[in-house]
Amino acid sequence: MNAIVSDPELLRQAALNSAEPAVEIKNVAMDYGGTVLALADVSLNLKEGEFLSIVGPSGCGKSTLLKLISGLAEAASGEVLVRGKPVRGTPPGIGFMFQRDVLLPWANVRENIAVGLECAGYPVNDREKRIDELLALIGLEQFGAYYPRALSGGMRQRVALCRLLAYSPDIYLMDEPFGALDAQTKLLMGQELLSIWSRFRKGVVFVTHDIEEAVSMSDRVVVMTGRPGRIKSEYQIDLPRPRDSRNVRKLPAFHRYVDAIWNDIMTESVRAA
Ligand SMILES: Nc1ncnc2c1ncn2[C@@H]1O[C@H](COP(=O)(O)OP(=O)(O)OP(=O)(O)O)[C@@H](O)[C@H]1O
Ligand SMILES: [Mg+2]
Repeated sequence: MNAIVSDPELLRQAALNSAEPAVEIKNVAMDYGGTVLALADVSLNLKEGEFLSIVGPSGCGKSTLLKLISGLAEAASGEVLVRGKPVRGTPPGIGFMFQRDVLLPWANVRENIAVGLECAGYPVNDREKRIDELLALIGLEQFGAYYPRALSGGMRQRVALCRLLAYSPDIYLMDEPFGALDAQTKLLMGQELLSIWSRFRKGVVFVTHDIEEAVSMSDRVVVMTGRPGRIKSEYQIDLPRPRDSRNVRKLPAFHRYVDAIWNDIMTESVRAA
């Protein structure tokens, strides 16, 4: 009986069905102070423990949505709630991973990861041990003393992921975290993220231009229209978990999702053009 209750996927499914969403975006519009609307009337929820991807044409407001959730920007109208509270400044427990490498150039790998632990208030005496564990998790045990300039793009994104994990957020906001990587490294990083996520199973909002990446990882994929961004469609991805991001791509259902989402985005891109 205990074995069933402690099954992380069952616990996650229970959380997915819990009443209060982790994030609620209600009828939000956003204009960056000018006349051009970035977002128009967007409503979207992130459930507890859900892996949600957002795809859509360039400039449709995906990054803007993440900024609203993290309190880096404020909506012109509508409401953004995190765990039922209106967002004013960055809510506790929100972790952000950007597309561009934002490691501190003057700090080595261990020190960069320590920033995440510091932000999380991790006990000082246990930090070195925790950094060892995190480095092992992403296969960079040998590189703790390296500075970012001596790492490849893929290694830097691994360290950035590690720092995010060190912070141990309740909600993960990831803005094209692997967008700058070559196809093979990207696939590997996706695989690693999926395997790490299957252990902590926190809510993730994952922005990507890569439809296959979105379908392979997510519980749900939301497609946005061209600017001003609205929700065009959403797809519940009913593919089995745990998933291996390479094997899942062999399933016929996987390709049906990808085709449908691709058609939606093409329609929007043509309309925008
Ligand atoms: N700081 C800013 N000041 C003014 N306008 C901005 C700012 N940031 C974004 N915008 C505008 O808001 C709109 C949405 O931008 P956003 O960066 O959210 O798009 P995106 O969907 O993330 O695009 P991409 O896929 O290219 O990253 C764009 O038209 C952009 O020009
Ligand atoms: Mg963006």
